[in-house]
Amino acid sequence: MAKVAAVIIMAAGQGTRMKSARPKVLHEVAGRSMIQHAITAANALQPERLVVVLGHQREFVEAHLEDVAPNVTIAVQEQMLGTGDAVRAGLEAVGEARGEIVVTSGDVPLLAGETLQELVATHRRGGHSATVLTAKVPDPTGYGRIIRDGERVVRIVEHRDASEAERQIDEINSGIYVFDAAVLRDGIAHLGTDNSQGEFYLTDVVEHINATGGTVGGHVLLDYRQTEGVNDRLQLAARNAEYNARILRHWMTEGVTVVDPATTWVHADVDLAQDVTLLPGTSLEGATSVASGAVIGPDTTLRDVEVGEGASVVRTHGSLAVIEAGASVGPFSYLRPGTVVGAGAKVGAFVEAKNAQLGAGAKVPHLTYCGDAVVGEGSNIGAGTIFANYDGVNKSTSTVGKHAFVGSDSVLVAPVNIADGAYVAAGSVVTGDVGPGELAVARGRQRNVPGWVERKRAGTPSETAARAAAAGGE
Ligand code: UD1
Ligand code: MG
Repeated sequence: MAKVAAVIIMAAGQGTRMKSARPKVLHEVAGRSMIQHAITAANALQPERLVVVLGHQREFVEAHLEDVAPNVTIAVQEQMLGTGDAVRAGLEAVGEARGEIVVTSGDVPLLAGETLQELVATHRRGGHSATVLTAKVPDPTGYGRIIRDGERVVRIVEHRDASEAERQIDEINSGIYVFDAAVLRDGIAHLGTDNSQGEFYLTDVVEHINATGGTVGGHVLLDYRQTEGVNDRLQLAARNAEYNARILRHWMTEGVTVVDPATTWVHADVDLAQDVTLLPGTSLEGATSVASGAVIGPDTTLRDVEVGEGASVVRTHGSLAVIEAGASVGPFSYLRPGTVVGAGAKVGAFVEAKNAQLGAGAKVPHLTYCGDAVVGEGSNIGAGTIFANYDGVNKSTSTVGKHAFVGSDSVLVAPVNIADGAYVAAGSVVTGDVGPGELAVARGRQRNVPGWVERKRAGTPSETAARAAAAGGE
């Protein structure tokens, strides 16, 4: 479809009902800020200019936009004088452009880019001066109502300004429109503030167009949930739930098994392959990707984690980590940034790994802190091993070679290198390097003191038991 001249996203409002230190449009739905959703949808129109109108707390929003959408143009609305005034500020940034201008809002996160494309297509087919995106909703309370004359929209009346009869109308204004640029400029220039809020209402442009010989169309969106906005935290939760349900439906139709959609959360930027299985209580966040055949969950949260084919990740919390094909993680594992679990490797129960590279088939099965570590392929790290990476001032890395064996309850005081094929005896505190094929024993030698219990613990059940055993009893 052809491009539009500009999209103006209104996002200057205060969002008072959110009761938040954060501007409303920075609150997230499915892992993206609401303003990012609005920009993503707008980009489907390939606008020559994409203008975001900011006002309240604009420095926060500007900083965020520099990160996620550096190409947008920011327009500033100094005072919240209404949606008509927001568009006036947006038009200043648009400049002299001719053609179509789409106006939308920063707080309608479910609105799809395809819907904007359909709106523009309807507008072009109808040959109107403007076309409003409308919807029939179960409860129109609070919305502007669409007053029609057949195919044409003649007026939009705000709920608070509407008569009892007008309030019976269930077709609402979504707050999303496409205008001919010249008509919009003329309409904005003629706005007044004669309404219950004393604001410049963008919606009054519709009446002006009709009065000056133009026509306004209405494009009814059947999927009305796309038009639902966010004004408070209850609506934020509801929009998140709806967005999530849509994401899960999408992945299920792509061949992903979601055992319990009610407790599974998948962010918009996550990528899942066919035959992935998500067990109950799984949250996949950020840019997480999961390859085919992998099973995630139950009760697992992964943010920006890459999971390879056929891997299994059980009751795990992970971020910025890579789990390669066939690896097994969990239950109760904590993967921190920089961790790579190699192909077929195992990270087991109560293991924390940070900036740790585990080679193919390496095993860290139980109760280990694995920080700043490199472990070669096929090596085994015994239960309770600690990679002591921090000396109170600096962090250092330790390495364990291929097919090495670290006995249980060892401490590797970084930086140390355990070479290929080396062994470390259980309970060792290793402070120096171990060569290939060597066994390091770094602990006190065992010494037994005969008769100690008889002398030092006389009269205890231990003494009785020891005597009986010594006498050959049971
Ligand atoms: C508006 C529409 C209403 C429609 C509803 C859909 C008007 C007069 N009414 O009402 O018909 O049913 O949206 O949700 O337009 N904004 C600014 N600057 C301002 C005022 C608002 O940027 O001075 C922004 C807000 O941040 C928001 C959007 O414009 O993103 C809509 O404003 P809001 O106050 O929510 O309008 P509604 O009263 O909901
Ligand atoms: Mg609103």
